[in-house]
Amino acid sequence: MKVDLGAAHTAVLLPEVLTALRIRASGTYLDATFGRGGHAGAILEKLIADGRLLCLDRDADAVADARARFGRDPRVTIFLAPFSALSACADQVEPGLKFDGILFDLGVSSPQLDDAARGFSFMHDGPLDMRMTQGEGPSAADVVNGASEAELGRIFREFGEERMAGRIARAIVADRRVRPFERTRELADMIARVARSRERHKHPATRVFQALRIYVNGELSELETALAAALPRLAPQGRLAVISFHSLEDRMVKQFMRRHANPDPVYAGLPDMPAHARPTLKLVGRSIQPAGEEIERNPRARSARLRVAERLDTGIAA
Ligand SMILES: C[S@@+](CC[C@H](N)C(=O)[O-])C[C@H]1O[C@@H](n2cnc3c(N)ncnc32)[C@H](O)[C@@H]1O
Repeated sequence: MKVDLGAAHTAVLLPEVLTALRIRASGTYLDATFGRGGHAGAILEKLIADGRLLCLDRDADAVADARARFGRDPRVTIFLAPFSALSACADQVEPGLKFDGILFDLGVSSPQLDDAARGFSFMHDGPLDMRMTQGEGPSAADVVNGASEAELGRIFREFGEERMAGRIARAIVADRRVRPFERTRELADMIARVARSRERHKHPATRVFQALRIYVNGELSELETALAAALPRLAPQGRLAVISFHSLEDRMVKQFMRRHANPDPVYAGLPDMPAHARPTLKLVGRSIQPAGEEIERNPRARSARLRVAERLDTGIAA
């Protein structure tokens, strides 16, 4: 396996995340998206010997980097796993383990985007792959060459909010009869021929690439499962911090936090609310976006949005 340990990722909203998580020196934390450990390293700096940090990533290169940097640190446990499996990982460390803070920094890391061989980017020509877990499940090429026109249209519309989804799907199906798509550049160039971008300075293939990545990695169902799994794993006053990079993810995070921060509507107006219907989360502030200065330093931060919630002590297991 090739691991470029020099490949860098600039952690987004780092001071804001540290403030949001309110790190206690002997607390227990989960970084569900290790990437290149920018957030994990900063959390560890605040932990003393009996603090604990679990790190997850579904990407073998990220996990190899985590092991090289923190594998010998007794405070750290590292898992190669999707974050939908966070409960099973936590139980391996200690059955029923709870966290004082859980961080999700969603999406892809710079090393993933910049490595042409991973096929995430139309800026670098590479195999049309896009799988975060290397070699697992269908690749983007399998989807582009195998899905029906209707299914491709649905994927581009639903996960890319692409207005020209139908036209692009039709063009793909016509072109792949002649030759299957194998490279990122082939697909990006073809899209540029048939569609225009509605946003200036955005390549016309941006939304289709986003849609394929979300679909190939099951990103929305991963997130939905992981948020539900994270809630009962938060200790009272434990903080949940989620950074998302596009509106579909952010909507899911916002709705999840709001749903659990409000009492069950079935009991609205009733004098006595059973414990299970009471809110389990409290929203912490408004969503946070990077300041202009951070975006200037790190343009990949521009669409980031951080949402934070705190676990209430309801006295019952969630
Ligand atoms: C934006 S990067 C995280 C960067 C990290 N916070 C840092 O400072 O270096 C996102 C990481 O999450 C991982 N990832 C995305 N979806 C995942 C999932 N469902 N399960 C586990 N890891 C996931 C990706 O492989 C990637 O390494």
